[in-house]
Amino acid sequence: MPGIEALAERIDTLMAEMTLAEKVGQLTMLAAPSTVTGPYLSDDYREEIAAGRVGSVLNLYGPEKVREVRKLALGTRLGIPLFTGLDVLHGHRTVFPIPLGEAAAMSPDLWRRTAEAAARDAAADGCDLTFAPMVDVARDPRWGRIAESAGEDPWLASRFGEAKIAGFHGGGLATCAKHFVAYGAVSAGREYAETDVSERALAEVYLPPFKAALEAGVVTFMPAFTDLAGLPMTAHVALLRGLLRERWGFDGVIISDYGSTGELLEHGIAGDLAEAAALALEAGVDVDMMGGAYIKGLPIAVERGLVSEALVDEAVRRVLTLKARLGLFDDPTRESVASNWQPDLSLAREAARRSIVLLTNGPGLVPLAPDLRRIALLGPLADAPEQMLGPWAGIGDPRTAVAIRAGLQAALPEVTIEHAAGVEISGGDDSGIPAAVALAENADLVVLCLGEERGMSGEAASRASIDLPGLQRELAEAIFATGKPVVVLLSSGRPLVLPWLFDQAAAVLATWFLGHEAGNAVADVLTGRADTVGRLPVTWPRSAGQIPIHLGPRPTGRPTDDRTHYTSRWIDTPSAPQFPFGWGLSLARLRVGQMRVDRHVLSSGTTLRIEVDAANESEFATEATLFLFIRDPLASVTRPLLELRGLAKLELPAGGSGVAHFSLTTEDVTFPGVDLRPSLEPGLVRIFVGPSAGQEGLQAADIQVELGGGGTSA
Ligand code: GLC
Repeated sequence: MPGIEALAERIDTLMAEMTLAEKVGQLTMLAAPSTVTGPYLSDDYREEIAAGRVGSVLNLYGPEKVREVRKLALGTRLGIPLFTGLDVLHGHRTVFPIPLGEAAAMSPDLWRRTAEAAARDAAADGCDLTFAPMVDVARDPRWGRIAESAGEDPWLASRFGEAKIAGFHGGGLATCAKHFVAYGAVSAGREYAETDVSERALAEVYLPPFKAALEAGVVTFMPAFTDLAGLPMTAHVALLRGLLRERWGFDGVIISDYGSTGELLEHGIAGDLAEAAALALEAGVDVDMMGGAYIKGLPIAVERGLVSEALVDEAVRRVLTLKARLGLFDDPTRESVASNWQPDLSLAREAARRSIVLLTNGPGLVPLAPDLRRIALLGPLADAPEQMLGPWAGIGDPRTAVAIRAGLQAALPEVTIEHAAGVEISGGDDSGIPAAVALAENADLVVLCLGEERGMSGEAASRASIDLPGLQRELAEAIFATGKPVVVLLSSGRPLVLPWLFDQAAAVLATWFLGHEAGNAVADVLTGRADTVGRLPVTWPRSAGQIPIHLGPRPTGRPTDDRTHYTSRWIDTPSAPQFPFGWGLSLARLRVGQMRVDRHVLSSGTTLRIEVDAANESEFATEATLFLFIRDPLASVTRPLLELRGLAKLELPAGGSGVAHFSLTTEDVTFPGVDLRPSLEPGLVRIFVGPSAGQEGLQAADIQVELGGGGTSA
C-alpha cells in the first residue's frame, strides 16, 4: 500500500472532485440477494451502484458475479471501487461449529485456524470484509444470538475475538467487531429489546472484548440495533464518538447494522430520515447499511443545517481510506485473489470434535463398548444433515453436511444401527414414538439425538422456554421407560433447561451445531477414537428462572447457602446451575498436581508465574484444559466471586504428563474503581487453578498485590 502521505494526497484529490451526492453514495451500503440477512432487500442495487449512489455492497459472492458488480462502480464518473461485506462467522462454503460451540474447544489456536480457512474461502468468493467477530458477551440463553457468541465471559470473548481477527486477517478478510455494545443484555433475552446496564457492567463485562478487538487491529465496528438506557447505539454519541473514537482512538469505519439508521424513527428519536441521518452521522456512523437514511436523508440534513458537510467529508475520508487499505484502488476487481480455494474438511472435523462437551457419563457408556452389536439411533436430529450447520452458516450447503447417522454408521460398519426419528423437532405428531420404542427395546443401547432446529437460535430467534421443542420430551420419556442405556446428543444453539433429562440419561453430550463434519466428529468421540475435550463457555442453567446465572456473580451481604434461610437463594430450586462454566468430562483420567507460584507478591512491572503439573492416567490421549481464576476479596468496590484470567491447554498422550503455565501481571488485577477509572489496589488476591469454575476442583493460593511505583490508579 502506498505511504500514508501519498494515500492522503490521493484521497484529498479525489474528495475535492466529489459532489455531495457522490459522497453520500460512498456512505451507502446496499444488500445484494445472494443471501438474505435482513427484513427487506434493495430491488435495484445494481442500478444504484451504476448511478454512483452506492459505495459498498453486502451479501454478494461468486468471483465472476462480484467482479461484474465491481465493474459497475468503476464505470461511474469517478470510478471509486466498491468493497463487499458478508457474514463469515463460522465458515463460508465449509462450515465449522457455531461460535458458541467452537468456544467450548477453549483453543485460540483453533479459533484462529478456522477463521483463516473461512477467510480464504470467502475471499476467493469475492468477499473483502466479514461482519465478524461477534464479541458480544451473552449471559441469557433465551437470546438466540448467544449461538453466535463466545459465551458469558468477557476474558474469553476477548481471546476469542483476538484469535478470530488474526485468523480472518491472515486469510485475507477485513473484520468488523460487533455489535457494539451490550446487545447480549437485551431485556428478558428478547431479541432487539432495550438494554439497560450500569456503567460498571459496561466497563467490566461488555466493553472489554471490543477494546481487545480494537487492540487486535479490527478494521471496522458495527453498533448494535439496541437502545442502551434510552439511546439507540446507532446514535450513541458518547459511546461511539466519545469512547470508541476519541478515548480509544479508533479512526476506522463504523458500519451501521442492517437498516438501523432508518430504525431511529421507530426508536422515536428521529422524526424523519434527515434527522435519522444527522443523528447517526453525529454519533460517528460512517456507512449506512440498508437504512436508506443517508442516501435519502443526508443531503436534506446538510441543506437544513442539521449536520455539516465537513462531517460528511470525515466519514467519506474514512471509507476511502478503508478502500485503500483493502488495496481496492490498486486492484479494484480483485484480480489478485485466487478463486480456487479448496476447503479443508479435516480442520472442520477437528474443530467439531474439540467442540463437543461430555456433560454426563454416569455408567461410563462413552466411549461405546466395542462389543455392541445393535444400536437404536433415535430422535429428530439423528439423520438431519440440514440442521447440522446451525445459524449464520454462510453459504454452506446443508445437503453436504455429515449427519450423525452417516457418521456413526461409517465409523461402526460392523454394528447394526437402526434409525427412527420418533418425532419431528418441533411438530405435534407422536405417531412415530411406538416404532422408536420398538427399536430401543430390540437394541443393546440407544443413541438419542435431540435438540433445536438451526433456525431456533441466531438472529431473531429468542426463545422464552429453553427446553426441547415439540414432543421430544415425550419421545425421550418413552425411551427411558424401556430401561435401555441411553446416550443423548443435544444439538442446540444454547444451553437447554433439561433437569429431567440429566436425571435419566446415562450420558449426555452437548453437540451444538457442529457444521459440515458433525456426524464424523460425533462418531470420533462416541467410539473413543478421540477424547471429549470441550468445556462449557456458558453456565448451563438448571432452571430458566435462574437466568442470568454465570461465572463470577458479585458477592452479596448474605452469601448463597441453600441450607440457610436468610441467604441469597431460591426456595424452589438449588442455587447451583446444572453445570458451571468450564464444565466438561473427559474419557481420560487427569490428575492435577499442586499449583506452584514463583512469587507471592505481585507489583507493577513484575510477572507472577504459575505452574501446575497434570498427568493423564488413562489409555486415552487427551487435551487437558485448565483455567486460572482470581478473586479479590477486599477492594474499594465489590469484586466478582471468580474472574477468569487464564486458560492453558496440555496435549497429553496416554500415560503422559505435562506442566500448565499461567502468568499474572498487575494489569490482570486492575479493575474499574469507584470512579470507573482503572484501579490497582494493594492487598490479598486469591488465585485459583482448576478444570472448571466448579469449586470442588479448584486449587487456591494467596498472593499480595503491592503498589510498585506509587499511586493507586493507573
Ligand atoms: C444482521 C445482523 C448483523 C449482520 C448484518 C449483515 O441484521 O444483526 O450481525 O452482520 O445484519 O448481515
